[in-house]
Amino acid sequence: MGDKKSFYLTTPIYYVNDAPHIGHAYTTVAGDVLTRWHRQKGESVWFLTGTDEHGQKVLNTAQANKVAPQQWCDDLVESSWKPVWRDLNIANDDFIRTTESRHMERVQRFLQGLKDDGFIYAGKFEGPYCIGCEEFKLPGDLDEGKCRIHSKPVEMLSEENWFFKLSAFREELLNHYKKNPEACQPASARNEVISFLEGEVRDLSISRSTFDWGIPVPWDTKQVIYVWFDALLNYATAVGLGDDADSEGGKKFAKTWPADVHLVGKDILRFHAVIWPAMLMAAKVAIPKKIFAHGWLLVGGEKMSKSKLTGIAPSDITKDFGVDAFRYYFLRAIPFGTDGSFSWEDMSARYTSELANDFGNLASRLIAMIEKYCENTIPAVATEASLAKQLAETVKSADEAICALDFQGGINSIMDFCKRINGYVTETEPWKVAKDPARKAELDLILYNTADALRALAVLLHPVMPESTEKLWESLGANTSIGSIAEQKISEVAKWGQLPAGSKVTKTPVLFPRLEENK
Ligand code: MSP
Repeated sequence: MGDKKSFYLTTPIYYVNDAPHIGHAYTTVAGDVLTRWHRQKGESVWFLTGTDEHGQKVLNTAQANKVAPQQWCDDLVESSWKPVWRDLNIANDDFIRTTESRHMERVQRFLQGLKDDGFIYAGKFEGPYCIGCEEFKLPGDLDEGKCRIHSKPVEMLSEENWFFKLSAFREELLNHYKKNPEACQPASARNEVISFLEGEVRDLSISRSTFDWGIPVPWDTKQVIYVWFDALLNYATAVGLGDDADSEGGKKFAKTWPADVHLVGKDILRFHAVIWPAMLMAAKVAIPKKIFAHGWLLVGGEKMSKSKLTGIAPSDITKDFGVDAFRYYFLRAIPFGTDGSFSWEDMSARYTSELANDFGNLASRLIAMIEKYCENTIPAVATEASLAKQLAETVKSADEAICALDFQGGINSIMDFCKRINGYVTETEPWKVAKDPARKAELDLILYNTADALRALAVLLHPVMPESTEKLWESLGANTSIGSIAEQKISEVAKWGQLPAGSKVTKTPVLFPRLEENK
């Protein structure tokens, strides 16, 4: 890998006004699956997530709880955000908090650079502001004086602030998105950004003077930097933005920047596709390769959110269904980029039919048959050409889909292969073949093919369901006979016959236990 650029993926950094709900987890799990997939492609990967801690919203929440804002953030990050990601098996390489000095110092240096280059000027902001969005609004953005996303009244601001010359980058941004369709996806997001840029783009107020919970403007310390200007920079400050080329930070930056994918919800698309690249253009730093805006998880037809009391904690779901089913469900059920409603019924139905029956049962039946008919030992290597061919096609289509962030398409093609193997077992009826000692070779062949197909399924599903695939891997004896599952390469997985004959299987723990009747 050497100095080759890493595949660098980020999630939004989340506000620490509350604990994570399944909407936040949706983005983070998607990022985790994609980065795990790229790691299994043998690429060097850098996966960043973190928390957005400044601004009025977090300050107000801390004050309402009678805690100093830094204390509030420290407590919530340690007691809630980091543990939830750990529980969901999120393998992020770094976690950035905007109150860390590594971030604050680089933000100040960046802003000073823009000021020195003439992109910042003093002005007056007058207009509505939504604290929920932390966004300056235009009167046309509101419904009867309320923010459309938060359905709450906005504040009227009138402040002397510092402004960033956002309007100067309108043309350049427009050309960029017209020329590079992959830079903003899906197409609906790109269209929204293009039509926004075809309208009037105003300069942006980038400081606030009425509260002090933020990074001070370096040349005017009575003002703090606007929380979005501060937050967007996390993607670059976390990897050494602006550091000397031969320092540790500078080398990290060269290896990671520009980001390959900024994963965001569609609520924060404009910040990422308009303001963020304009900031980078002004500083003559490369802009990210792709902004991908996914849809919302809806409850009762509206964006699920804590402020509307519709937030569901990930643990509400994982306590019944387990972590792997949680990771699987949302990516499998909702096309990435489209809104989707969460329903317990749909979750239970897919859990039972796809995970417990199609995948879990296949694994336990195969291991049970190898125990019963082959003395716990993988039989001689055999190849069923039609299965091998289908596996090769599966790997190709799953890889293409997942790399294009079509998680549903990718998972579907893997699960179709799983169905095909179930069909193979049903058609070949090994339990009948086993009754005739003269057909032992045929029995071995069926069991070998099924076992090797499960080997491939474990690897392909590992990025989505790390825990249960690891269990399956162990029970196939593959840890000893092949090596660790995380090291298996996507490019090698279709090579049929990798499970060595003679290795020992052990009983599979039930991968997806039956749901209790009252669920
Ligand atoms: N702090 C800003 C982001 C700054 S990034 C430089 C922010 N934070 S947030 O806590 O409100 O999280 C927003 C993100 O959480 C969304 O963009 C999305 O990724 C995720 N989601 C929050 N609610 C969601 C749903 N109901 N459905 C899907 N994703 C949701 O905005």
